[in-house]
Amino acid sequence: MSDFTSGFWPIYITVITLVSIIGTWVFLKMQTTRKLAPGEKAELMEHTWDGDLRDFNNPLPRWWLGLFYGTMVFALAYLALWPGLGNYAGLLGWTSKGEYEAEVKAAEARFQPVYAKFMQQDIATVAADPDARAIGKNLFLTYCSQCHGSNAAGARGFPNLTDNDWLYGGDPDTIVATITNGRNGVMPPWGPVLGVDGVKQVANYVLSLSGRQHDATQAAAGKPKFDQNCAACHMPGGTGMQAIGAPNLTDKVWLYGGSEGAIIETISKGRNGVMPAMTQTLGTTSNKDAKLHLLAAYVYGLSQKP
Ligand code: HEC
Ligand code: HEC
Repeated sequence: MSDFTSGFWPIYITVITLVSIIGTWVFLKMQTTRKLAPGEKAELMEHTWDGDLRDFNNPLPRWWLGLFYGTMVFALAYLALWPGLGNYAGLLGWTSKGEYEAEVKAAEARFQPVYAKFMQQDIATVAADPDARAIGKNLFLTYCSQCHGSNAAGARGFPNLTDNDWLYGGDPDTIVATITNGRNGVMPPWGPVLGVDGVKQVANYVLSLSGRQHDATQAAAGKPKFDQNCAACHMPGGTGMQAIGAPNLTDKVWLYGGSEGAIIETISKGRNGVMPAMTQTLGTTSNKDAKLHLLAAYVYGLSQKP
């Protein structure tokens, strides 16, 4: 309750809340203090509702009154102990942040021994452990599935992590580096440099690299343009360069699509795939390293099929 923009509102809330509770009390008291004198009979009230519904002016039952007062006592006690009255913090000093931190601490204490065991093993060993894979899968679903899919098979622009084709490399250290620091794949736009015809020629050369259907004349015209403009990143022959995440163009795996149209779009407009650095997201505690270790092992294991 510390985020009010002006000092007026906490007071406003406190006054309205307390006046309502005390007002209800006073009103109830006023309406219920008259008792029937000994011998006096309850009178029938004069009005009739719904045709035949009449009522007596009997006093309210004690148990009912008791409940009513009880709710007010409860409300006042609650508001004294917990925050609720404007800026007042409450006698117990409870905060949602404090409760969250206590829960995180408890969870950490619980997972620490489990994590400690895996931290001593290298990633390949962890990847082979079914318990570790189960934990890794849960972590993946929490932190990675929104982009890579719950089965890690990826989508257009988001690499498939279950095949053995890597933009940056699939050894344990590289996977750890990818998750820790993120990645930023920069494919510059070539439309302005090559023009529409030039892009089409190079695209046909790219199609030819993986044996896709292409126009041989266009591809032949595209090859020198590729060698001049693209080979620096994609290597001569288009086999790619993992250091900068330039995809291998000779395999049948496409990040943005392998149709002529998709390739033309990639070349003329460029692409910029961003994998966010995850260390902040994984938490700020010692368990962060363990999560990273388990996630890397899970991803590593995905493509290690017999
Ligand atoms: C916001 C979306 C997003 C999230 C969340 C995300 N990634 Fe990525 N990831 C990407 C993109 C996009 C790329 C490709 C980057 C590029 O094009 O250069 C990528 C690349 C990768 C790569 C490199 C693949 C290769 O072929 O070299 C790995 C490994 C990876 N992500 C693992 C993870 C893991 C593990 C998590 C969860 C801890 C995660 N990612 C969370 C978007 C995301
Ligand atoms: C500065 C380095 C660089 C240069 C120069 C470059 N590329 Fe790329 N290219 C990349 C990177 C990095 C990616 C991956 C982009 C991403 O991850 O979002 C890429 C992606 C691509 C893709 C998409 C592949 C897929 O799997 O969908 C194609 C096609 C491509 N480049 C063709 C070319 C062609 C043709 C040229 C020359 C006209 C070229 N590139 C020049 C770095 C480069």
